[in-house]
Amino acid sequence: MASRSAKPAKSTKRPAGKKVSAATKKKALTKRYAAKERAAAPQMDGKPKLYASLVVQLMSLLKGEHDFIANAANMSALLFNSLPNVNWAGFYFLHGDELVLGPFQGNPACVRIPMGTGVCGVAAQQCETIIVPNVHEFPGHIACDVASNSEIVVPLFDGERLLGVLDLDSPAIGRFDDQDAEGLNELVTVFVAHEEGLGL
Ligand code: SME
Repeated sequence: MASRSAKPAKSTKRPAGKKVSAATKKKALTKRYAAKERAAAPQMDGKPKLYASLVVQLMSLLKGEHDFIANAANMSALLFNSLPNVNWAGFYFLHGDELVLGPFQGNPACVRIPMGTGVCGVAAQQCETIIVPNVHEFPGHIACDVASNSEIVVPLFDGERLLGVLDLDSPAIGRFDDQDAEGLNELVTVFVAHEEGLGL
């Protein structure tokens, strides 16, 4: 008698031995959430921890490399990609009596800023870090990116000599505070110390 050979029906059941127990599922979920927590840790532990980790990362990027432009470029990329809510991060260097655009990440920006003009020029002239919670309220602010709403500018010194500024913009109002100022000052100190003696 001819027998019909039926195709085995597709089973949605797991093969024997592959059954996932509730305990295993729970373990997998716990592991997944622990990984998420670790990823979010810098934000959860606050800015000091994030900046401490950036100092370590910057030192490792600088190690053994003394090309000034390459190091400045990598530092701006590190900040742009690691700090939340930042739409521009980069350098302006002092050439004569004006600041000239250096390595940066973000939209194209104005190339030359006279001393005393804009947030960068004022920070350079006053030789101090300036935090601007709302750039639209800063007289003479130079708008390079219409998305920017707040800004921080940190001067760079080689001893007493002003080298330029580090500039960060954010689309969020009030994005930068004293902890950012402290962290960024530490980072530029590490950066300049590494470049010291290179005839900047
Ligand atoms: N906003 C700066 C100009 C530079 S951009 O933000 C990149 C200023 O007012 O000096």
